[in-house]
Amino acid sequence: MTSKNLFSTSQIYYPNGGNTPPKSSIGYRATRVMAGALNASQMAMAEAYINGLEIPDSVFRSMMDSSMSMLFQHAPGLLAPYEWVLNESDRLAESSPELMKVQYDLPQAMLNQMLGDWDIIYPKYSMGLWENGATDLEVSQIQMIDRVIEKLEIVDGDRILDFGCGWGCVPNYIMSKFPNVRFTGLNLSHHQCDYIRHKMQDPNSYLSSDRFTLCEGDLNEVEFAEKFDKILSIGVFCHVGNLTNAFQKLASLLESDGKVFIHIITARIPNNMSSGFTHKYIFPHGRYWNYDAVPSHNRDLQTIDRWYINGINYHKTFTAWLQRFDAAQDSIKLLDYNMDYAKFRRIWRFYLLMLASAFATCDGQYNGNGQYLLTRS
Ligand SMILES: C[S@@+](CC[C@H](N)C(=O)[O-])C[C@H]1O[C@@H](n2cnc3c(N)ncnc32)[C@H](O)[C@@H]1O
Repeated sequence: MTSKNLFSTSQIYYPNGGNTPPKSSIGYRATRVMAGALNASQMAMAEAYINGLEIPDSVFRSMMDSSMSMLFQHAPGLLAPYEWVLNESDRLAESSPELMKVQYDLPQAMLNQMLGDWDIIYPKYSMGLWENGATDLEVSQIQMIDRVIEKLEIVDGDRILDFGCGWGCVPNYIMSKFPNVRFTGLNLSHHQCDYIRHKMQDPNSYLSSDRFTLCEGDLNEVEFAEKFDKILSIGVFCHVGNLTNAFQKLASLLESDGKVFIHIITARIPNNMSSGFTHKYIFPHGRYWNYDAVPSHNRDLQTIDRWYINGINYHKTFTAWLQRFDAAQDSIKLLDYNMDYAKFRRIWRFYLLMLASAFATCDGQYNGNGQYLLTRS
């Protein structure tokens, strides 16, 4: 890190504003053709790497830095490789069963090693907060959850829904701080729910108290009999294809004076973005909403505050995950990935290297995370 403070450069951001040009315009069509060509060349490079092409990490990073910096600043439309990325889809969340298979039901022992599995902080698969001085992954995740508590104004006694709760890390930590908070965790991943069910039998875990309820189910279909004072959703909306439907559902689950806190990957560019590589190998139909997308969908929920979290925080989180993944090779190579381990390792190294670099681009100014506080309209 240079002497300049990369975390306090938000004044460099200029809202791009403007809408995507009409589909019939020459500019739009030309952008779509160029985005397709760029995607084809990125996929060729990704698949060469997956099939064994040797590229030193330092060369990979500098290639990513120069190309991503040009794209974010001067050609953001090319960061949407497919037309579906630009618009809302029909379903609230798309490709969910495939997503579970490709990503979230991977061997738990590998994910424990990569993400970390400590006493209070269970695997957490979202940005840690480093800008307040955290020096390791566990502390960065604690500091991020402390920030969620503050921004969502959680008070003891709240009934909270965690919409896409992962391994129950956030409920476990928050219940450790508030003795009367009640949590419901919703998750479609059977493996992650198994991890939680195990913790629900462990007297040392806050998930074992009757204050925690697990619901294994799909965002698309879930219904609850009760309403919640607070709803939080961290790292999940990259799997949501229709904000209007999602906000309608969240509003229906919220008390009239309740609050919703959404934490997502976001880009400060006019359009949403994705990547052909992540769509095929990591997050089927993953879509990274632009920073203005959430507040522009204000029918059932309205955004009352929002914060851009500099991408350097996610660069450091991905770098920590990559180091932990590399350091655990001897044990994790023995697990079953439904493919040759050498290939799996290369797919995951490409993913972790690529995202670590993308979030560092332009000092984290364009590609970071967004946090949004919403109430019922
Ligand atoms: C990136 S992880 C984040 C998990 C957790 N919030 C955290 O911060 O560690 C996304 C979570 O969303 C869940 N998810 C994705 N699509 C879902 C769906 N259609 N229904 C329910 N959960 C879903 C995944 O299983 C996973 O637990």
